Amino acid sequence: MTSPTGGTGRSVTGANIAYRSALSGRPTCYLDYDFGSPTAGTTFEIPWAANGVEGTGPDGGGLHRYLRGEIPAPAQLDVWNGAGTRRRGRPIGAGPLVVLPGQRYGSDFGFTDDIARRCAELFLRLEEEFDLTLVDLSAGRSYANQLALAATATPVLRKVTARWVVFHRWTPQHVTAAADLAFEAGGIIAMGKEYGHEPERLRESLRFVRTAVLSSHGPEVQHLGVAQQAFLRRCDAELSELARRRGIGRYALLGTVPLDPLLQWREQLITDHDVSRGIASAETVRAFATLTERLFDDTVWETL
Ligand SMILES: Nc1ncnc2c1ncn2[C@@H]1O[C@H](COP(=O)(O)OP(=O)(O)OP(=O)(O)O)[C@@H](O)[C@H]1O
Ligand SMILES: [Mg+2]
Repeated sequence: MTSPTGGTGRSVTGANIAYRSALSGRPTCYLDYDFGSPTAGTTFEIPWAANGVEGTGPDGGGLHRYLRGEIPAPAQLDVWNGAGTRRRGRPIGAGPLVVLPGQRYGSDFGFTDDIARRCAELFLRLEEEFDLTLVDLSAGRSYANQLALAATATPVLRKVTARWVVFHRWTPQHVTAAADLAFEAGGIIAMGKEYGHEPERLRESLRFVRTAVLSSHGPEVQHLGVAQQAFLRRCDAELSELARRRGIGRYALLGTVPLDPLLQWREQLITDHDVSRGIASAETVRAFATLTERLFDDTVWETL
């Protein structure tokens, strides 16, 4: 999971996909590869790991320490049990849900072949244990992207299904930047090719998610003036046309997440209970559930 810029909703959407995947019974894990800002613990509501884990000894610590070769394995946090006040134990029928956090106050680091090898070894081990491994990569043309491309190109991982999801907001700048990140110089396909990925296969394994989208026809805009509503509809149409032209239109779309007031104020997992007590919208949960199912639906990933 990557995005052209920060603040797109990549992490909170990814965390909710992980949550929905585990709820549906699939063993799921989530890796915080946003090395410059390791805060996955906040979204998963694990208070003591809100900004990564502290471990300093020979066998404790987060992904930063593991990837740099300082510890043999990174910490794995059990979301069902390590959590704050809202969750107690694994729900009936749910699969394990595990977060691999970064190191507290960890910062971004460069790329080396050793780091890529350790990353590939980790992915392979997780592939044995989990049905879904989500990797939250830092935004833009980042080392984290480079690392994931290099690791998934290694011979042992070539046989493993790897998919790329680019999250972006529904604005001209984001649509442009998302298409550039995927298809242009220095982007996912170009960089992947350098590591031996086949460009066509990489392109087939790439989809886009539009986040925090205000529906230009929905009830949220009904209270606006007539001119403003008409203007929003025109913006929406222009964006659809831009996305189509840049190769990230309907056929490359994995899904759309509506603008959700709760998420605007708080990065969190949205539970069915949040919906039934009326603080979160059922539509948002449906969008997360649909994204999760589409990740696993091979027909979605057939040749464009
Ligand atoms: N569907 C949504 N509706 C409203 N707000 C949202 C939605 N999705 C995400 N947000 C909010 O947008 C902000 C950015 O989201 P998030 O942190 O998940 O993005 P990110 O792409 O991971 O950013 P970063 O690169 O900084 O890690 C957060 O405050 C989040 O709560
Ligand atoms: Mg994030």
